[in-house]
Amino acid sequence: MRNDPNLGSRPGSHGYLPTGIGLYRKMFALPAEDCGKKITIHFDGVMGVSTVWLNGHLLGTHESGYTEVHYDISDQARYGDEGNNVIVVRVDATRYEGWWYEGGGIYRHTWLQKTDRLHVAHWGTYVTTPHVTEQRAEVVIRTVIHNEYEKDRVCWLTSTIVNEAGEMVAFTSESVEVAWFDQVEVENRVDVALPQCWSPDHPVLYQLITEVSMGKKVVDTYETHFGIRTLAFTREGFLLNGKPVLLKGTCNHQDFAGVGVALPDRVIAYKLQLLKEMGCNAYRSAHHPPTPELLAICDRIGMMVIDENRKLDSSPSGLADLESLIRRDRNHPSIIVWCMENEEILEGKITGSRILRTLANLTRKLDPTRPTLAAMNHGWNGEGYSDQVDIVGYNYGQRKQQDLTDHFNHPSRIILGSESASSTTTRGIYAIDTERGYCPSYEGIYMPSWSCTVEKAWNDVIENPFLTGVFLWTGLDYRGEPTPYRWPCISSHFGIMDTCGFPKDVYYYLKSVWTEEPMVHLLPHWNWAGKEGELVDVWVYSNGDEVELQLNGRTLGMQPMIKAGHLEWKVPFEPGELTAISYKEGELFAEKKVKTTDSPYRVHMEPDRTDIQADGTDVCVVKVAIRDQADNLVPIADNEVYFTVEGAGTILGVGNGNPSSHEPDKANRRRAFNGYCLLLIQSGSTPGEIVVSGTSIGLQSAQITIAAR
Ligand code: GAL
Repeated sequence: MRNDPNLGSRPGSHGYLPTGIGLYRKMFALPAEDCGKKITIHFDGVMGVSTVWLNGHLLGTHESGYTEVHYDISDQARYGDEGNNVIVVRVDATRYEGWWYEGGGIYRHTWLQKTDRLHVAHWGTYVTTPHVTEQRAEVVIRTVIHNEYEKDRVCWLTSTIVNEAGEMVAFTSESVEVAWFDQVEVENRVDVALPQCWSPDHPVLYQLITEVSMGKKVVDTYETHFGIRTLAFTREGFLLNGKPVLLKGTCNHQDFAGVGVALPDRVIAYKLQLLKEMGCNAYRSAHHPPTPELLAICDRIGMMVIDENRKLDSSPSGLADLESLIRRDRNHPSIIVWCMENEEILEGKITGSRILRTLANLTRKLDPTRPTLAAMNHGWNGEGYSDQVDIVGYNYGQRKQQDLTDHFNHPSRIILGSESASSTTTRGIYAIDTERGYCPSYEGIYMPSWSCTVEKAWNDVIENPFLTGVFLWTGLDYRGEPTPYRWPCISSHFGIMDTCGFPKDVYYYLKSVWTEEPMVHLLPHWNWAGKEGELVDVWVYSNGDEVELQLNGRTLGMQPMIKAGHLEWKVPFEPGELTAISYKEGELFAEKKVKTTDSPYRVHMEPDRTDIQADGTDVCVVKVAIRDQADNLVPIADNEVYFTVEGAGTILGVGNGNPSSHEPDKANRRRAFNGYCLLLIQSGSTPGEIVVSGTSIGLQSAQITIAAR
């Protein structure tokens, strides 16, 4: 069963890492003036079953590592002279929730929140925009005010909407009476004139500032970011703000090289930016709710999101998890769909159908503005299962053509490629290697029986736009679920990028079909010493009209570009320079060269930014490359690089995208894998310079300086 935790114990599904039980213990002081306030502690995510005590008082236990839990500690806390507070968190991470690497322990942010006893409730605002025209948007604001005083209270509730320039665009204010130990929901409707609509290309945000006042004193301020936009899923496809948009999506788990699942916000932003640069406009948070910061970043950079419930479960705890996901997330304009489940064994079964109905109804009740989805791999037409959700997901349906048949046989069904294809390639590898566990980069040579190539999945959508789009499995490789190999492989190969975010060749296929940026890409590399005269398969991706291939200045012919496809040549290897020249409307459009390189000569380091925040959390992502004397990347280099960091930062982690690397991620050294490795530097909380050097035996070293401000 997909929702059976034992499934996760399949060899390697969690990357062969040990699990265990851990304890956190922390002391903190609260000043005497906090006594009388509402003090709560919020855990955004603790992987494993967590139990929390404050000053010896048991506060509670929470099961899911993917949903938030908070505890009111106002009574159990000690204030001022009463002494220090001791919080203990026990995490039992020996059980799994999924079949991918999930980590263990407190891995998302934890907040200590202090409010007045009269305050906006937790997740207490809900903003919708039911009517949007070019002239005006109606904004409905629902606010829940919680009175935890022992007396009834009359307060003023003011709601101010400001645009990105900080200008007020709408305002409403009224008096509200809230009985003691009670809460009330207040509904306001305001108009925003000439609204700027949110979309991936124009991710315009508005901010609602809610203030609760008693007399002249503002006792609580609460900020909600939201967007104005309309969405509609139809039989013909998806409409955003009334215009058809194809979903160019990837599914992703939450880990990254060097840090496991405990990603600083900056690393989440880095990962999302890589996807955005590839032309991706949608992100499926597979198969669980993401960390809230990920959604805030998607709002900001313009990335549509399928937000996903962990499992098909209508028990009280299953419903509570779903409810917390929707209440937490429903103001994010980036979210376009709520996904109820993924590939559950009860798909197409009567019991599954009833459970799904309950989940979908709860979702519609809490947020009627977005459709529900089930991401299915079987049972589409059994026991009314598909009728329970607004959109029916087809995981790998293209290969089986099930989605095409169902579109014609079920006249009301709306279809989405919820998990469309896996490219299953290893970065920089061009031949099957069963010993080290690598898959070649020519898409389709290794293909799981249930999948199809990324190229095929995208072509299916172009030919049949009613498929709404693709969600490729996955944007980046992830730790765990090594497929097709097990040990020594510890990571998946499904990604369009590796675990460090280094692009595989198929990344350039997507760039060619998902972006307008002039580009041409060529594979493989041209370092085939010992294979002189042997035929090498050369593939080219481009968004030009035709491409000429040249070897050492001699033409190997021009081919018209295959629409949404790739070109192939067979080229007898001779060392030198292979060039792809792309033309559009007869003009030179883009050019790409690969050269036979010399042996490794130097380490090269490229930071993503040289100015970071000295806030103790910011991260500089440093791409480390091994180059020859002429400064070409050596695409087969595996030199080990040693890092030293001096000044205002430290090493957060290292990685290289090699799915079979067993080197530690928390270390001051890493081997390159096919020319590259990655270093993450984290700032401290004191401003200053961070000087980073990379050295490797026999090579010239590199040094970079980052300013932490
Ligand atoms: C899908 C599943 C994913 C992952 C993938 C591997 O069926 O939804 O979680 O397991 O297969 O191919």
